[in-house]
Amino acid sequence: MAILEGIQIQNYRALKDVVLGRTIFEAKAETLPRLMAVIGANGVGKSSLLDALGFLGDCLGEGVEAACDKPHRGGFERLRTQGSTEPICFEIRYRENSNSRPINYTLHIDCDTQGRPVVTRERLRQRRQGQTDGQPYSFVDLTDGKGFAWSGDATKEQEGKDKISIKMSDRQVLAISTLGTLSDHPRIAKFRKFLSGWYLSYFVPELARSQPMSGADPHLDRRGENLAKYLRFIQRERPITFKDMLTRVSRKIPGIQSIKSVPAPDRRLLLEFHAEGYAEPFFQQDMSDGSLKLLAYLLLMEDPVPAPLIGIEEPENGLHHQLLGLLASEFKTFASQPKGPQILITTHAPSLVDALSPDEVWILTKGHDGFSNMKRAKDVPSVQAMFDEGIPLGSLWFSNHFGLDPQ
Ligand SMILES: Nc1ncnc2c1ncn2[C@@H]1O[C@H](COP(=O)(O)OP(=O)(O)O)[C@@H](O)[C@H]1O
Ligand SMILES: [Mg+2]
Repeated sequence: MAILEGIQIQNYRALKDVVLGRTIFEAKAETLPRLMAVIGANGVGKSSLLDALGFLGDCLGEGVEAACDKPHRGGFERLRTQGSTEPICFEIRYRENSNSRPINYTLHIDCDTQGRPVVTRERLRQRRQGQTDGQPYSFVDLTDGKGFAWSGDATKEQEGKDKISIKMSDRQVLAISTLGTLSDHPRIAKFRKFLSGWYLSYFVPELARSQPMSGADPHLDRRGENLAKYLRFIQRERPITFKDMLTRVSRKIPGIQSIKSVPAPDRRLLLEFHAEGYAEPFFQQDMSDGSLKLLAYLLLMEDPVPAPLIGIEEPENGLHHQLLGLLASEFKTFASQPKGPQILITTHAPSLVDALSPDEVWILTKGHDGFSNMKRAKDVPSVQAMFDEGIPLGSLWFSNHFGLDPQ
C-alpha cells in the first residue's frame, strides 16, 4: 500500500510555503498518518490545499497549461502566489510500501518568455539499496526539459549504467507521465500510478439523484454523479457482499431501517429506502441532501480497491453535527484497513475534530502577510496537554485554545 509521507507546496495561491509531514528538507519530521484533517477559518487556504493535490493529478494527466487553465483556477498567474516571481513548487515524499525506500519527487512550474506555464524542474530521488544515511540520489533529473533518467534501480552517481538522455519535446508534459509508461522504469511507473490515483471528493447531492439508463462504474466519481452506476457495478461484480453492504450502510443512516435494490422494468437499478413510520419505500430521488451525502461517503468506504489518497472537502456541509463524529470514526477505520487509503479532510466542524487526536490535525491560519501557515495540533504544547487530560480536540478549538486564529 503506497504512502504519502509528506508534501511541501510553494507559491500556490496563499500557500506560499507550507509543509505537511516529512519531506527531503524536513527529514526529521514525523511522516503523515493514515487520516489527516486540516482545520481553519474561512479563507486560510483549505480548499487551495486540496486543489493543489488535484492540480498535480491534472498536470500529470493533461499537462501543466491545461491544469492551470481549468475554469476554477484561471491560469498560471492567478494561481501563483500574488507578488511572487518564483515557480510553483511541489516536493513529495512517498513510499510504495512500508518495506520500500522512500522516493522524493520535485516539480517546479514556471512560465516561459511567452507567458505559457512550463515544467522547469523535475527530479526523482531515492537512496540506494543498503544506504541508511546521507542524501538520496537522483534517478530522474531534468532542468528546462533536458536531462537524464536512470532505469531499473540505478542512480545518477552510477554513471553510464542504464543512463538515458532525455529531451522533452513538449514542456507542458511531465517527464514522469511519459517515462512512467515504459517498462524499464518500474519505479517511475509506480509513482505515476500513485499520483494519478489520488481522488478528491466534492460531493454534490443533486447529481447523485440522477438515474442513468445503463452503465456500471468501478469507483464513485468525484461529485457522486455516478452513484447509481457504482452501485450497479458492485451488485454485478460482488452480488453477495452487495446485500451486506446495503445492510451495513442502512444501519448508519438515521431513520432508515433498510435499503434494498430493485431492478426497474427498464433495467435501471433503483434503491428503496425503507424509513421508520412509512409503509411505502422512498427512492434515491426522495432522499434528503444530508442522507444522500452520508450514503455516498459510506459507499465510498465500501470500495474494494480504493484510491491511495482520498481528499474530502468539508464533509460536514449538510450533515447534522451528531453524525460527524460517526463519520470521522468511519473514515478512521477505513484508513487503517490494510488496503485502506490515506484520507485528508478539510473541515471547520469542531464535532468532527472531536473524534481526532492531535497527531491527526493540522491548523491552517493566515498571517498578516496574507500567507497561509500550517501547524500540527500535536506541536502546540498546551493543546496536547489539555487533550491528554481528556478534553476533546474540537472543544479546544471551539473555545479558542489553539491560540492561532488571528480572526
Ligand atoms: N494567487 C493568490 N495569491 C495569494 N492569495 C490568493 C491567491 N489566490 C487566492 N488567494 C487567497 O486564498 C484565499 C482562499 O483560499 P481558500 O483555499 O478558498 O480558503 P478556505 O478554503 O480555507 O476558505 C482567499 O483569501 C484569497 O484571497
Ligand atoms: Mg474552502
